[in-house]
Amino acid sequence: MGLIAITREVNTAIGSCELTFLQRGSIDTALAVQQHQNYQSVLSSLGCEIIVVPTEPGLADSVFIEDTAIVLDEIAVLLRPGAASRRPEVAGVEAVLRQYRTLASIQPPGTLDGGDLLRIDNIIFAGLSTRSNQSGIEQLRNIVIDHGFRVEAVKTTKCLHLKSAVSEVAPGTLLINPDWISGSSFSDYELIDINKEESHAANSLLLGQNVMFPASFPRTADKLMTRGINVTPVDLSELQKAEGATTCCSLILTA
Ligand code: GLY
Repeated sequence: MGLIAITREVNTAIGSCELTFLQRGSIDTALAVQQHQNYQSVLSSLGCEIIVVPTEPGLADSVFIEDTAIVLDEIAVLLRPGAASRRPEVAGVEAVLRQYRTLASIQPPGTLDGGDLLRIDNIIFAGLSTRSNQSGIEQLRNIVIDHGFRVEAVKTTKCLHLKSAVSEVAPGTLLINPDWISGSSFSDYELIDINKEESHAANSLLLGQNVMFPASFPRTADKLMTRGINVTPVDLSELQKAEGATTCCSLILTA
């Protein structure tokens, strides 16, 4: 069994991306493309086969492919992004995912972004956020319950997505920004706080024994390494200006 990372090209319109908690800054698209290619190389070096979904005109945020689906071993659920401009992204991802999984989907009035879904073993923590609503979370719960998954809603008000504030860095260990999300929902886990000067540092991508982690947050990276966690840095400075982060740029699945 191998790992597949599905990614999606950076769109030339990324400068017009959705922004919710960030002010718009100038994005160097060529550098964003280069950084994204490097991100894919790192995924490859960590054992993933890379499948790239082409982007399409007008899909400014399509590089953030994680928001379009959640892929479990048993099923993939096509999501319904909270930002209406992002809903057309789902069709192109569906075409690829149907080769690997049986599909289900979130229907209106439900909305759900993959960035709000933190899956740990058989629990899916779901951020109730500006992007993901109660109906979307309820629909997901009904879809995955037959596959042995529990869905726990977590109110997320201070950042774009739940995983902007908390992500898994080792089995049973989460990296968290306690100013953005309460640790009370995660009392069964060991929690590592981000460095306070790096508020956006809580999003990381755990792959086997390695954590892909933004190069722009060195103090938090040091903290992780001190705890014996293998950190593989990736420079995502341009995609961060588009309110993106490490997990957003791929869908990881076993095949
Ligand atoms: N720009 C990423 C998002 O807002 O979904």
